[in-house]
Amino acid sequence: MITESSILDNPGGLSEAPAGVVSTGGPIQSAITYEKIPTHIYADAKAASRAVAQEIADLIRQKQNEGKPCILGLATGSSPKTVYAELIRMHREEGLSFHNVVTFNLDEYYPMEPDSLQSYWRFMREQLFDHVDIPQGNYHVPDGTLQTDKVAEFTKKYEAEIEAAGGLDFQLLGIGGNGHIGFNEPGSLINSHTRLMMLDNSTRAAASVDFGGLPKTPRKAITMGVSSILSAKRVVLLAWGERKAPVIRGAVEGLVTELNPASYLQTHPNALFVIDEAAASELTRMKTPWLVDSVEWDNKMKKKAVTYLSMALSKPILKLTDRDYNDNGMSDLLAQYGQAYDINIDVFNQLQHTITGWPGGKPNADDTNRPERALPAHKRCLIFSPHPDDDIISMGGTFQRLRDQGHEVHVGYQTSGNIAVADDEALRFADYVVDFNTKFGIDSPEATRIFQDAAASLREKKDSEMDTTEVRYVKGLIRMGEAKATCRFVGIPVENAHFMNMPFYETGTVAKKPLSEEDILITMALIEEIKPHQIYAAGDLADPHGTHKVCLDAVLESVRRLKDKDFMKDCWVWLYRGAWAEWDVSEIEMAVPMSPDQVTKKRLGIFKHQSQKDGVVYQGTDSREFWQRAEERNRGTAEIYNRLGLAEYEAMEAFVRWRF
Ligand code: F6R
Repeated sequence: MITESSILDNPGGLSEAPAGVVSTGGPIQSAITYEKIPTHIYADAKAASRAVAQEIADLIRQKQNEGKPCILGLATGSSPKTVYAELIRMHREEGLSFHNVVTFNLDEYYPMEPDSLQSYWRFMREQLFDHVDIPQGNYHVPDGTLQTDKVAEFTKKYEAEIEAAGGLDFQLLGIGGNGHIGFNEPGSLINSHTRLMMLDNSTRAAASVDFGGLPKTPRKAITMGVSSILSAKRVVLLAWGERKAPVIRGAVEGLVTELNPASYLQTHPNALFVIDEAAASELTRMKTPWLVDSVEWDNKMKKKAVTYLSMALSKPILKLTDRDYNDNGMSDLLAQYGQAYDINIDVFNQLQHTITGWPGGKPNADDTNRPERALPAHKRCLIFSPHPDDDIISMGGTFQRLRDQGHEVHVGYQTSGNIAVADDEALRFADYVVDFNTKFGIDSPEATRIFQDAAASLREKKDSEMDTTEVRYVKGLIRMGEAKATCRFVGIPVENAHFMNMPFYETGTVAKKPLSEEDILITMALIEEIKPHQIYAAGDLADPHGTHKVCLDAVLESVRRLKDKDFMKDCWVWLYRGAWAEWDVSEIEMAVPMSPDQVTKKRLGIFKHQSQKDGVVYQGTDSREFWQRAEERNRGTAEIYNRLGLAEYEAMEAFVRWRF
């Protein structure tokens, strides 16, 4: 029987798949009907990475015992970082030696200097090689510095070296949003060899985040071919986060197709996908588990199934019939609850009760069926905004209502957001300060010096260099000014805008430091100062390595540590979603509707963030502007409620309550 916990595989390790034997993909045998690649799902990337690192460590030790080298194929990108961190820990704490390890990396951008910030050579040294005892000369990364006419010769040699070493014992993979493995983009053949490859547009857009914009992102890469990957004795592919969910479903459950190169792994006798819950969310066993096996019909599962059925059949909930339930694998739900009529009304009412125009609670009203308490009528609300614009982008309508309904609203801007400001914006503002001083007769040679230094450093900055501290300050101040402008626009005093400048973010590069004690102390201090009745935080699980997740971890850890304080007994935590995705409708616990005018007002609030408009530095794969993404998402949420048969609103912002 499937329960919420049995959907996940045993987090103890990968051990049910002894070397050479195909694993069943976990305890849910019938998932095999849908899943054509053994797939282990873990609650989070950390637990999954531990299991993968353990398998690699076991293999290294086994080879040591046999007196043989261990030949590993390695990947870069965000996915394997946690595996490498665990291997380093094992080296330091458990004496795992890498003296017999020989590695071959999958790929490298082309052209690329090895010391460049974005080079995979540098990545591998920083993430693994410099921290373990692998002999220099035992690791290989494709050479991004070659003349074009030398690449073909190099790629042949690279394959020959792998073969001469005895072939890959283990290949670690990530997966691109378009299904690429290595840089084998859609269209790559199953028998493709190591070669120079044109990068897909979506790959370049995703990588542009690291390169400071699309124009600076390479167009090519040298990559191991699909056939080189498939010839490894064991292949383990990692995927974290909701953004990978659709492509994982395609690779695991779809047809083998060159349009999703990861699907070629269906033909490998010893491949395994190790993914987190978010990346698994589109798999049949997660999305519609009742189609895979019998399930425990608790309220959560019931809501999930009924909303799914209503959407799948394009029928409002109250029109679903017994037959609809029976025909769609939900007959045991029907048997348990009697008739469709009763189930429909129950789920409909639950959804109805999530809708409120009073996110801070409605004073003098019966709150039995409302998402928030009526009392206290005037609440202190603390919105945590990971970047300076997430408050308005993700919950601008609710922010405005809380203020208009008389609550004391504070915003904790968690990071400076400084790396997302373009160089010319920074110059414009530094120049403005000089002109301002001149105009008003303020003699400030220091401002002139800062402007001149900034101009010089930005002119001379190479790709492998980051901004000077002063330029970073200028960029941070620009974003601070924009956040203050939004607060004024919504109508809260600027003293209620708290700029936390969490240290984990301040690296000057896209890669951030891990969450530190200092970050948590800063967060706790703000909560203790405000003593909020409501905390709003970005519950963004779609981006497990990103800033939003770290910011969320800081808030949740702070709340856990403060939970015994008196004021915390009255504090509710609401999670909103960041820029990418919305909660599943069956999970939403508070939906705040917006009128057309309120949508327009929110848009104007987002416009206060001028540095994030018109071709932002970190656009990613979505070419829409932030206000467009926000509006489309909020309209989409309202449309889902409407399709389920509830009232028709222009747009809605949605929240889930986190109970500590
Ligand atoms: C990296 C590589 C790529 C990445 C893929 C996913 O060596 O070959 O296929 O694995 O682009 O990247 P992340 O893990 O950053 O999402």
